[in-house]
Amino acid sequence: MCGVIGYCGHRPAVPLVLEGLKRLEYRGYDSAGLAFLQVNKLEVIRSAGKLCNLEEKVAKTANTFAPVSIGHTRWATHGLPVEKNSHPHKSNNNALAIVHNGIIENFQELKDELLKKGYVFYSDTDTEVLANLIADELDCLLQAKFSKNYAELQTEIEHTPQLSAQYLPYVEEAFCNAIKKAYGAYAVVLLSPLIPRHILAARLSAPLLLGIGIEEHFIASDVPAFLPYTRDVVFLDDNEFVTMSAGSYEVKNIYSGEKIAKTVHHIPWDLQGAAKDGYKHFMLKEIMEQPRVLQECLVGRVQDDLVCLPELDTLPVPDSIRIIACGTSYNAGLWSQYYLEQFAEIPVTVEIASEFRYRKPILNKNELIVVISQSGETADTLGALRLCREKGYPVLGICNVLGSSVAREASASVYTQAGPEISVASTKAMLSQMVVLLLLALYYGQRKKLACPVKEILHELRALPDILERALPAMRERAKELALQYAFAKSFFYLGRGTGYSLALEGALKLKELSYIHAEGYATGEIKHGPIALIEPDFPTFALAFDDDNFSKVRSGILEIKSRQGRVISVLQEGTSLENDDIWYIPKTNLPEFLALPAMQLFSYEMADYLGKDVDQPRNLAKSVTVE
Ligand code: G6P
Repeated sequence: MCGVIGYCGHRPAVPLVLEGLKRLEYRGYDSAGLAFLQVNKLEVIRSAGKLCNLEEKVAKTANTFAPVSIGHTRWATHGLPVEKNSHPHKSNNNALAIVHNGIIENFQELKDELLKKGYVFYSDTDTEVLANLIADELDCLLQAKFSKNYAELQTEIEHTPQLSAQYLPYVEEAFCNAIKKAYGAYAVVLLSPLIPRHILAARLSAPLLLGIGIEEHFIASDVPAFLPYTRDVVFLDDNEFVTMSAGSYEVKNIYSGEKIAKTVHHIPWDLQGAAKDGYKHFMLKEIMEQPRVLQECLVGRVQDDLVCLPELDTLPVPDSIRIIACGTSYNAGLWSQYYLEQFAEIPVTVEIASEFRYRKPILNKNELIVVISQSGETADTLGALRLCREKGYPVLGICNVLGSSVAREASASVYTQAGPEISVASTKAMLSQMVVLLLLALYYGQRKKLACPVKEILHELRALPDILERALPAMRERAKELALQYAFAKSFFYLGRGTGYSLALEGALKLKELSYIHAEGYATGEIKHGPIALIEPDFPTFALAFDDDNFSKVRSGILEIKSRQGRVISVLQEGTSLENDDIWYIPKTNLPEFLALPAMQLFSYEMADYLGKDVDQPRNLAKSVTVE
């Protein structure tokens, strides 16, 4: 959801920013833009639609060799995805341009104030309001110090850029003053001809990180934006702002102005992890790398047939667990309920974060809150985490992105170690969350000294990477065949029971996200209570029938659909059978979910690719939903 980037250094900044924006594309966007200084005047280039449109415009612009630039991919919140609403936004007096990710909640009140002062707005965005608010603050400060406002100082500034150092404290102060007045959750980056060698950036509940290079600095929403140049990163915290130039950076508190010493983290990802690696899409690459993900999830977590989660050793064994998440992460949480209750004998509730945080939830005594988030930045999940922390509950964060807000704000966090997930639709992240959650169930079973089959499950888990690796090529072929056969469908049911239920929800979510085919996931037992009325020959069902205690019941459900002339794709484990048209066999294991999930992901992928959809960046979706 919106990507921001800024660069100060020794390389041509505009092409570098464009390239960085491409690596942020996965966040989802509908327009893009960038700004740089041309003979100390602000140049802004923006374009609706994909980045190639922006590239074309940039290519027609002369002298884009500036050493400082800011850029943005926009995911519309205020106003249509058209050029006038794209970022960067300039202030009326051209004193500055900003890019911004997030929402300014009181933008209308601020806008009304500015309108009264004579400001004019050319877009429908909250960002343009913030740009003018900063400029207004700046003019007040300049007037007080130099008895001239920006417009009156402009010629002087253009001809004597060496004077910029004297203006820096005023721009910083204006920036902070404006931010203090703007409520919401956002990350904002500023460029101004007053300070041509610097960029300012601030964070308020939206991801923002600083990349530290040699004689160059980067600011961005996510690491891939600057990964080719540096893996040394400083994570900004809420209410912090940074002033950076090619040779230096300084982080301060927005409210107190105090300097903050930040730790530099070294990110273990490499460029290859964030590249397609010869695959047609990131999604396909991420599906196909799941055997490795399964292996890497276990690294450091298993020793001598025991589960080690040292992150949790200092927290007491809870009497109950409440899992909170959104989207695919929610489905992973729902899946784990079966195992946590079975192996750890702990009652589990699973909640959608956006619902949980706006109820008046009554939490149990000695309850552990588990929040699951691939990005660690989802606004609702983070809101729920904060609510529980305020109430004094321990929160375990399960997330993938190192240094993310969830990881930093939780009482303890376990990383899923899946590597960067670029495709908007989540695939390998869910698989890795399932591994961690299964380990969590075994871990508490161990700590409670229950007779839970730790050794046997670990043995199954260790065998899975090989089984999946061998199965994937044939699975992909089968997914292709079935996608072609079923591409006629306008609607799909996904059915599952037991541990298959949450996977059915995930299968349906993947199909609608990617191929825009309507799909609903149901518990197989529920189909009789209404949904079966919809069954007819062109309303197919995708059913998961695992070889477990539920098999005969699931089988009856499938036969009921068939006897109403519904077509069914049944995912079965080798060794079982069913009277059905389209059977999809997956290898036999005691953890069939780890094979069924990739099968469903591949089916959605092949369907979307066959139908010519934008697989990695489905319309209207964002990878990281940092606004409510
Ligand atoms: C967005 C993404 C989904 C993801 C959900 C939760 O909607 O498109 O793929 O499952 O956010 O994201 P999180 O990062 O919290 O797991």
